[in-house]
Amino acid sequence: MAPIPQGGTVAVTGSAGFIGGWVVHQLLDEGYRVRACVRDANDDEKVGFLKAMPGYASGRLSLHSANLDEAGCFDEIFKGCQGVAHLSHVSSYDDMDYVKRVCDHVINSVNQSETVNRVVVTSSIAAVMSESDIQELVRRPVLYEDRYPDEQNPKRQANRGQGYSMGKVLAERAFADAAEESGRWDAITCCPGDNVGPILSAHQKNFGPWQHHIETMLLGQYSQNVIGAYRAWFTVDVRDVAEAHIRILESVNVQNGERFIAWSTETRNVEDVCASIDRLLPELGFAGAELIDPLPEKVQAKEAQFRAIWGGCELRNDRICETLGMAFRPLDVSIRDCVETLISVGGVEPVRKPGF
Ligand SMILES: NC(=O)c1ccc[n+]([C@@H]2O[C@H](COP(=O)([O-])OP(=O)(O)OC[C@H]3O[C@@H](n4cnc5c(N)ncnc54)[C@H](OP(=O)(O)O)[C@@H]3O)[C@@H](O)[C@H]2O)c1
Repeated sequence: MAPIPQGGTVAVTGSAGFIGGWVVHQLLDEGYRVRACVRDANDDEKVGFLKAMPGYASGRLSLHSANLDEAGCFDEIFKGCQGVAHLSHVSSYDDMDYVKRVCDHVINSVNQSETVNRVVVTSSIAAVMSESDIQELVRRPVLYEDRYPDEQNPKRQANRGQGYSMGKVLAERAFADAAEESGRWDAITCCPGDNVGPILSAHQKNFGPWQHHIETMLLGQYSQNVIGAYRAWFTVDVRDVAEAHIRILESVNVQNGERFIAWSTETRNVEDVCASIDRLLPELGFAGAELIDPLPEKVQAKEAQFRAIWGGCELRNDRICETLGMAFRPLDVSIRDCVETLISVGGVEPVRKPGF
């Protein structure tokens, strides 16, 4: 029930991931001790970038293999930690019993540690706005922390594409309830928007999905947004999301069960994201890319209507700015840095105009 002490020890699940990698990096920069939890600490293709961090050489950063599908997997790792940043995905969002079970694995390890004060649960804007009926966004267009998807809609089913959103809401509540019951730690949620920004390791270009979309643009063909048909990207820089996690761990102003949306409120249609590349980096000679629309014909027929509904949404980040003092980078910076690292770290060869 307390913020973590400056320089304390934090366990980060999903450390090999896009956001988790940046949380580890920034925690080290700010003087913390970090236990990076990955599925396989010997898989250097995924964890080599962590071992290359200076803190690993001194031992301030250590790596730990843990598969959250296995009960007790974090028991030893969390002992002695004051904070946990729980960023890892789960193996599947199709089965809510499974999602609850793996939440309990993490929760039990937190309880057993007897040292953890605070857990940051990484949720998603999908737990704020993923609607089975898009008209719900017309009725409630303000996207802020107290908004949840319409959970009464009978179409809100895992097998109808709502599993990720349902699993995230379930996890938020499971952690907050367990923390309250324990009385010894608190659980605060971070709901990131669409993460764009620099990758730290080549394998991260394949995930995302947003940095992966930018990779496909560089390769010459990209897809219409199907995560919310025709929705613009509701963006945030991955480095700002990492900072938000650390500020939540440190804050004296947050309460168990609170959630903070981490996005800049800057939105951009996928076509304009692609067009930004040449505008921001003319030296690259990027040849542009072909847009594919994989949405079903009946959805394509409603493109204008969908765009209007998404365009009518109001993105808010007052709470995270006021409570945690966050300021967000502009999307142009995130796109530029994403492109440059996809090439320099990820080895992506962009399609170029003649002469480049
Ligand atoms: N990226 C976004 O735009 C975005 C937006 C909103 C919310 N989020 C949330 O932010 C979190 C991090 O996202 P990300 O983009 O950084 O994802 P990511 O790059 O795919 O990384 C996720 C990590 O989860 C780990 N993982 C998956 N299944 C696991 C299991 N059974 N046991 C242990 N670890 C497991 C993987 O570990 P290994 O690599 O070690 O196998 C992977 O590195 C996720 O919870 C995601 O839902 C992301």
